[in-house]
Formats: sequence, C-alpha cells, structure tokens
Amino acid sequence: MFSDNAPVGVVRFGGEHYCITEAPFLHKINTNTLETLTKIDLHKELGINSHCPNPHTLKDGTTINILHGVGATGPKYDVVAFPPSPLQGKENVFAKPQKVGTVDARWKLNPCHMHTFGLTERHVVLLEQPLTIDVKAMVANTIRDKPFIGGMEWMENKLVKIHLLNRETGKEVKQKAKCERFFYMHIINCYEKDNHIIIDINTYDKPDLLYAFHVKNIRENGATMGNNLDGGKVKRIIVPLEVPDKAAPELNLVMLAGQKATAYKQKDGSLLLTPEIMTEYSYEIPTLNPAYHGRPYRYFYGSCGNLKLTTGKLGKVDMETREVKEWFEEDLYVTITYFIPRPSATAEDDGVVIVTGLHSNDRRKVTLLVLNATDMSELARVVFATPSDVPRSLHGCFVSA
Ligand SMILES: [Fe+2]
Repeated sequence: MFSDNAPVGVVRFGGEHYCITEAPFLHKINTNTLETLTKIDLHKELGINSHCPNPHTLKDGTTINILHGVGATGPKYDVVAFPPSPLQGKENVFAKPQKVGTVDARWKLNPCHMHTFGLTERHVVLLEQPLTIDVKAMVANTIRDKPFIGGMEWMENKLVKIHLLNRETGKEVKQKAKCERFFYMHIINCYEKDNHIIIDINTYDKPDLLYAFHVKNIRENGATMGNNLDGGKVKRIIVPLEVPDKAAPELNLVMLAGQKATAYKQKDGSLLLTPEIMTEYSYEIPTLNPAYHGRPYRYFYGSCGNLKLTTGKLGKVDMETREVKEWFEEDLYVTITYFIPRPSATAEDDGVVIVTGLHSNDRRKVTLLVLNATDMSELARVVFATPSDVPRSLHGCFVSA
C-alpha cells in the first residue's frame, strides 16, 4: 500500500544499480539510458516492512543492509549481506541474503526510524533514536490515505540506544551504551581506533524539520520558516570497547587524545555517552572519499543545515581541526552527490566532488558542478535544461562508463 516512489538514492546490489527508499521497493535502472527495467518488492521476496535506504557496498561487491521486519518477539532489525552476483539460477541477489545478525527493537510496538547505519572494520553500528514508527497508526494512516508522517512518534525523554554487532560472529557487544538524545538521518562515518568506536553524525535536537516541510507550511511561510528551524550540528560520539568492571563513575572512559566526547559508567553498568559538538551546523547528505568509509578519516563534504540562508551552501568539514571550508553561489541550491578520487591519489582529499544545483527562478534548469575537493574551487560546470521540473537530489553514485 506504500508508494513505490524511490527518490532517496541510487545504490548497487549484485553489480546492478537500483533506486531505493525506506519502503521495501527497489527499481533496477539502466545506468546508460536511466530507463526503469524491473521493480523488486522486498515485502513479497523477504517479508520485510522497510529497509535502510543507505546500504554499504564492500570492495568485493557484497552489499550490507538492515532489513526491518517483525519476529516472534516484536519488531527487529536484521543485518544481512547480499552477494556480489546472483546465485545460480536466480535472476537477482534479493532471494536469499546471508544473515549477519539480528537486533530486537527496544520498544515492542515501535521500531525506530533508521535512515543510515555505520560499518567499521569489525562492527555494525545501529543507533536506535527516539523517533519511532507507531505501527498501528501507520497501518491506519495508510488505509485512510493519510500521510505517512502521522505514524511517526517522538519519544521526548528517551536517549539514543547504541547497538554494536560483531561482523564475524553476528553477536551484539554486551556492554550497553546510550547517548544523550538527538534526532538524526545521516551517520557520516564510523571507525575504530585503539579499542574505541568513533561515530560521526549529523544531529538535531528534535525532528521538527520533518514536520516543517508540509506543503501548507512552505506555501504560507516558505520565505521565513528557516529562521525558526534548528540548523543541526555535527557531533562525535565515542564508545569505549574496554570497560573495566570496577570503573569509577567519575572516570571518563574515552581514552583517545584530543577528543572531548565522554563515556561514564552508570550504576546499572551501562555507559552514558555525551558527544563532542564538532561544527556550528550540520552538513547534510554527507559524502567522503569512498576509500575512507569505515576507516580513520579527516574530511567530509555536505550541505550546510543553516536554513536562515537565502541560498545553498556547501562545506568541506575538517574533522581534525573542526574547521569548515565553504562554497556557495547566490540562487544556487546545491547538494554534493559524490566524491571521486583522482586516479592514483595518495592524499585523502585529492579528487573532485560532484555537485548538483537547482535554481529557484527556473524549475527546469540544473547545474552540474565539479569542484576541486582540496580547496573547493570550481573546475567545471554544465547547465542543463530538462523536459520536466527537477526535484532536489539526495544520495547519488558515480558510475564510470
Ligand atoms: Fe538521506
């Protein structure tokens, strides 16, 4: 009954490209003609209600994703691996994914909204935020043709629960950890260092943004509504993996030099984490050099969350110095869709970022920009006229011909 519109991203499964969204539908596309070839219904294939629209594809072509379904004890998140190519006799890779592990949802009637997840060398990182899906309300809304968002529930006083799954054993790390409350869509990157897991993420105090963008609000207050919206922050959460049995409650268990995030052991044995605020605003649809996914890294690129601006702004964020190098042009609304490294590059930021830009005065015009990822200077641009209105671009991918 959900819409099968899949506008969130273009991703790779089994060496082929699919348009994806949270609903369990994928559309295979021909990357030369952009023609839609087939539709995959994962509700029919695997019995799931939704999945994460930002899977991770490994170097060998295996794609790891989180499937949201219902098990014997309530909602659950299955971590699965889709093979690099279809099994013998199968048309696609969706028939029988290999299960990596399962996490039961923290609330029995309300699975959490999960737009991204993290993958480090050894762990899968799932964050259960207090934005949940009220399954009953969702079904009722769908039947009544009411908006999907009416079935979302914000648990005002709850923390963010962190789940770490060992990628080899599929078992959850026993140490329980919770982080101070926030709403999120995009984890930027996660990696491991000296027995700590570092999680960098775009966060907001509350999910007000989701409710602000109703068409009625945009029509009535479009020009000024950004003044009252939270511009977000990039935060760094650090989970220590070595927690002594008798750690004193006042001892910060984050032992990494130069980091301000904290982790304190609580009376019940769990960890309470407080992130470090890295930037003044969020930088959304975060993109980085793909060779640094899940590894220690320094830079990422994204669109500035400051909605008071009258134009779009891009930022190159230096996670070491916490500095941001910005790029903007009046009346151009920009999204960074991909980082392409220079062939044989050795520096992390040696390459280009591909940017799409929309124009408020012409809905059928698109500007494609190539920026030097080192200093954010413009290298090239192409302006297209398109046969129909152009929607805002979200997550992209680069396909070499
Ligand atoms: Fe997204």
